[in-house]
Amino acid sequence: MDSVVARMKHRDTGDLFPGRNIFRGEDTSTVLMLMIEKALICYGSRYGTTTEVVQEMVKTAEGLGTKTEAVFLKKDRPPTNLHEYDLVIIGSGIAAGQWTKEPLDFIKNNLDLLSKTRVALFVVCGDAGSPEKCGQAQVAYLDKIVEKHPGFSPISTALIGGVFDFKKYNFGVRALVKKIVKAQLPPGEEVPEKLDFRDWDKIRDWIRQLLQ
Ligand SMILES: Cc1cc2nc3c(=O)[nH]c(=O)nc-3n(C[C@H](O)[C@H](O)[C@H](O)COP(=O)(O)O)c2cc1C
Repeated sequence: MDSVVARMKHRDTGDLFPGRNIFRGEDTSTVLMLMIEKALICYGSRYGTTTEVVQEMVKTAEGLGTKTEAVFLKKDRPPTNLHEYDLVIIGSGIAAGQWTKEPLDFIKNNLDLLSKTRVALFVVCGDAGSPEKCGQAQVAYLDKIVEKHPGFSPISTALIGGVFDFKKYNFGVRALVKKIVKAQLPPGEEVPEKLDFRDWDKIRDWIRQLLQ
């Protein structure tokens, strides 16, 4: 199960490349490593899973020497000096097919600056835990967000497996989500109280790929 599916592309040519943040000059023997000294992560979360994912992203980035700030947009205002960051990572948990409102507003309100900045996008969602749903989730939760914002061109997107933690939901949400999850399990199999699709190694790898 690949619960982090990452796509990286060259900032200038748009070519997809799976590896590191390396920009090649015309002479292909020349490889320029870009230093990411300062990064910002702006995100939204409903039940706290994305917050935990972001905490691990920050830890990983700081461990690589990148000064990294995380802003939970529902509580805190994002900085306005976005041009001072070498990388801005924007993400959200998904519910009923939707991002949280605040990171979408952040993209919309800062489109001009973000179009001139190195940006990466991620979502944390249940569908990333099912290989057969990843393609559709990539389009619906990531590609469509990019398409909706002309000029916005993330260098990488990541679909990150989320969590179903039924004790966190109210009665109605619990019943509804349990029914949806149960329909995907083999007949007779009970839904556990918690399903966690996060692959921490892959989350850390994505951050390393973005920064190195
Ligand atoms: C009410 C509800 C609706 C959800 N809808 C979707 C969905 O449409 N697609 C999906 O991939 N995951 C869905 N999920 C799974 C969430 O994306 C997953 O729980 C994720 O970890 C939530 O992140 P957050 O806690 O940061 O908000 C849903 C979860 C809940 C509780």
